[in-house]
Amino acid sequence: MRVDIISALPEIVRGSLQESILGRAQKKGELEVHVHDLRDYATDKYKKVDDYPFGGGAGMVLKPEPIAACFEHIREHQAPIDEVIFLTPDGEVLTQAIVNELSLKNRIVMLAGHYKGVDQRIRDTEITREISIGDYVLSGGELPALVLVDAIARLLPGVLGDATSALTDSFQDELLDAPTFTRPADFNGMKVPNVLLSGDHAKIEAWRDAQRMEKTKRRRPDLLHSMPSDDLSDAKGTKNT
Ligand code: ADE
Repeated sequence: MRVDIISALPEIVRGSLQESILGRAQKKGELEVHVHDLRDYATDKYKKVDDYPFGGGAGMVLKPEPIAACFEHIREHQAPIDEVIFLTPDGEVLTQAIVNELSLKNRIVMLAGHYKGVDQRIRDTEITREISIGDYVLSGGELPALVLVDAIARLLPGVLGDATSALTDSFQDELLDAPTFTRPADFNGMKVPNVLLSGDHAKIEAWRDAQRMEKTKRRRPDLLHSMPSDDLSDAKGTKNT
C-alpha cells in the first residue's frame, strides 16, 4: 500500500514513521509512505500556506492553492488513488471497521489540517472522506494521520509477527480484550490465574471469552448494544451451532 501524507508540519509525521510497526511495514515493503511538505507548494516568496478567514474569526485557514498544487504533483506520476482523506474533528469517527476497510486499498492520500482548518473548496473538490479520531480537538491533523496509518499498517499481510494477534484485538470482533500475563507467574505475591498455566486450551479460551464479555459489559456496554444479535449470542457462548 502507498500512503501520501500532506502536511504543513511534516517533521511531526516523519519523526514517527521509522519506529515500530510503521518502520517494520515499510522495511518489509508492505507500506510506502511519502510525506509532502505543503510549504514546497506555496506560490509566494514567503512560502505562505495559510491566511485569515473571510468574514473574520479566530485562527488561520490553510490556503487552497498550495494544497491543489500538491495534489496535482501527487497525481501526476503515480498509481490511481483510492481514497483522499482529510483528518478533521468534524469527520466520521474512526472505528476498527473503517480501518479494516481502508487496509484493503492500494493507495490513500491523507491531508492533515492545521490552524483553523482548510479552505472549504478543497474539501468539496479533492476530499473523498473526512475522518476524526475522536470527539476532542488536537492542534493539527498530523497525529490523527499517524494514528490512522499505524492502525492500517498493522493489518497489512506479514507486518505483525503473530498473524492471528491482529484478529483477536479489542474491537476486531466488538469485544474488549481479556487480561494478559507473562512471566513471572508470581509477581510480588500477585499470581497469574491458574487456568492460564493449565495447558488446557479449551478451558483457557472459555476463560478468555468470559473475561472479554465481563470487561465489555463493565466498560463499554454500548459495544454490546451495537452488536448484531447473532454475534452477541456467539460471544456469550449461547449460540446453538
Ligand atoms: N484535527 C484536530 N483534531 C482532530 C481529531 N480529533 N481528529 C482528526 N483530526 C483532527
